[in-house]
Amino acid sequence: MVKLIDKSKVKKFMKKKNIVSIIQARLTSSRFPNKILQKIENKTILELLIHRLGKSKYLDKMVLAIPKSKKNELLRDKFKKKITIFSGSENDVLDRYFQTAKKFKAQTIVRICGDCPLIDPKVVDRIVSFYQKNDFDYVSNTIKPTYPDGLDVEVFNFKTLKKAWMKAKSNTDREHVTPYIIHNKEFKKKNIFYKENLSNLRLTLDEKIDLKQIKQVYYKLKKNKNFGVEEISKLYKKNPKIFRINNKIGRNEGLILSTGQKLWKRAKNIIPGGNMLLSKRPEMYLPNKWPTYYSKAKGCYIWDMDNVKYTDLSLMSVGTNTLGYANSKIDNAVIESIKKSNMSTFNCPEEIYLTEKLLDMHPHFDMAKYARTGGEANSIAIRIARASSGKDKVAICGYHGWHDWYLSANHNSNEKKGILKDHLLPGLSTSGVPKNLSNTAYPFMFNDYNALENICNKNKIGAIKMEIFRNFPPKNNFLKKVRNLANKKNIVLIFDECTSGFRETFGGLHLKYKVNPDICILGKALGNGFPITTVLGNKKVMDAAQNTFISSTFWTERSGYVAGLKTLEEMEKIKSWNIISKQGIKLKMKLKKLGQKHKLKLIISGLSSCPSFMISSDKWIKYKTYITQELLKKRILGANTTYLSIFHNDKIIQKYINCLDKIFYYIKRCENNDLNINEILSNDVCHTGFKRLN
Ligand SMILES: Cc1ncc(COP(=O)(O)O)c(C=O)c1O
Repeated sequence: MVKLIDKSKVKKFMKKKNIVSIIQARLTSSRFPNKILQKIENKTILELLIHRLGKSKYLDKMVLAIPKSKKNELLRDKFKKKITIFSGSENDVLDRYFQTAKKFKAQTIVRICGDCPLIDPKVVDRIVSFYQKNDFDYVSNTIKPTYPDGLDVEVFNFKTLKKAWMKAKSNTDREHVTPYIIHNKEFKKKNIFYKENLSNLRLTLDEKIDLKQIKQVYYKLKKNKNFGVEEISKLYKKNPKIFRINNKIGRNEGLILSTGQKLWKRAKNIIPGGNMLLSKRPEMYLPNKWPTYYSKAKGCYIWDMDNVKYTDLSLMSVGTNTLGYANSKIDNAVIESIKKSNMSTFNCPEEIYLTEKLLDMHPHFDMAKYARTGGEANSIAIRIARASSGKDKVAICGYHGWHDWYLSANHNSNEKKGILKDHLLPGLSTSGVPKNLSNTAYPFMFNDYNALENICNKNKIGAIKMEIFRNFPPKNNFLKKVRNLANKKNIVLIFDECTSGFRETFGGLHLKYKVNPDICILGKALGNGFPITTVLGNKKVMDAAQNTFISSTFWTERSGYVAGLKTLEEMEKIKSWNIISKQGIKLKMKLKKLGQKHKLKLIISGLSSCPSFMISSDKWIKYKTYITQELLKKRILGANTTYLSIFHNDKIIQKYINCLDKIFYYIKRCENNDLNINEILSNDVCHTGFKRLN
């Protein structure tokens, strides 16, 4: 056991007896598992903490309060010889504290966190002695921090702890122990200030980078075994650079950030870019505030990791779920099929059934291939088209995925941002894309027939690949002219309908325009959330797939085909494309009226079922971020584009419009220079294109 100072030598002001320091610690920290077992020299973080805290003059006892779980019991084995140990609830840390205090009959509790190895016993004593001499329920240096983060000490009595234990309800209050006390007027509280403000220094251990920082400071000061805040302050004055290692991490992030935001911080360290899809990065919406991760979703609602419920008026998972999240008809069909195994050495018959259904819906096609993602399907289509036409070069219009053949378009010009920047995404880098693919893919703008004709006259184009509706519909018979051009020049015409399919028609949108391509790609909504994308085509072109190698293990898995079949059945039954388009038209009308009401220059675009708007202003990106910021306060996920589902009823749309009404009022005031957008925007601005994260 670490020996505490003999109390008989301590001044006689100890009117409140049994001062117990409860150190909370666990091995299961989500941001940095096992952090307290990391070592500085030959001591673990927790040993160092116990050792330093043991030098406090006033403590009667130290108890290590750990979660009751198999993993955390390791702490008992490791530390039982050094300190008394008590185990309690893992997540309800307030309860763990209460039970510990009760068990050891603590009258005064000194709360210390196990991840603060540089705790300063002199600071502990200063706060305990102030508490002893005065009449407060709670004394700490954390209400208005001036001490470095990591030298936190909170002192309170058992009665105060009991009240908080009985009354605190929210997860945050239970997890972080003292917020209820700090934010409630019924308690008498006092903050202890340091003589200067060192609150920007971070010596607490939450992330790997913090360990580097703590070690750096420790090695600089270790000559003096009893170093504390005074020495830290001197070191900072002498060499502030030493403290820059982790100064980007905000104070008390653990308390301020939601679970989703904390997960995103973890993700960015171990997954390049944080995740696998640009459109699901929080930076695209509301950096540091977007909930980012979901625990469950149903209909058009999503619950975040803290169980907060949001209405999704944003991308509905980038257009995959027109029939709503967790649609039980589709999910049950998939569950039933996977019970009989999702994979086997044999093929699943649903692959044929789905093909027959899709060909029924598109009688001008004869064959289908499948992939799981849009980008893969686009690569398949390009390979088939090149094999069929015998020509390598392609003309492209729209977004077609991340693959080399597409990104190589940015090699074509010397322009730094690449020619795809005008297309959809600025900032797409060609790093890693072979340079000798340059001048194989030529972008053209939608509805610019002359530009396309020009490209086809100047180059031996084998395929034209295009979206047929992104922001605005085709004009002046654009699609028919493209079809004729392809026929004339023996070019394979591919419509990429990953996004436009099933949103306005039962199948490809080209059915509405009565222009048949040679190949059409349909994905996203086809599986209502399960991965399945098809490449449909006519026999003449698709036969070329036999002369090239296109094959992948998981293109044979069953869930995608089963989900596709059931989704088509459901869509057909309720004519979902009509429902979502009708709601979208209503939403567009309401947006238009709102723009007029507030005299804002609103540009409304997009397919009926995915309306999009922007405000014509050089402050647009700030306004867009502000819109998301304000909607989020009302538990609405949204910005300026809404992918509708069959669950977006009139009431939900009206709620969104009512919120936008108030938001537009403030935006108009900013437009009139009557208000400054920077003053009402409390977040970093959202990203617009591809940006490197980390
Ligand atoms: C028209 C179009 N093509 C291709 C893709 C790429 O699909 P995926 O992200 O599934 O690879 C998308 C995705 O947004 C798309 O909208």
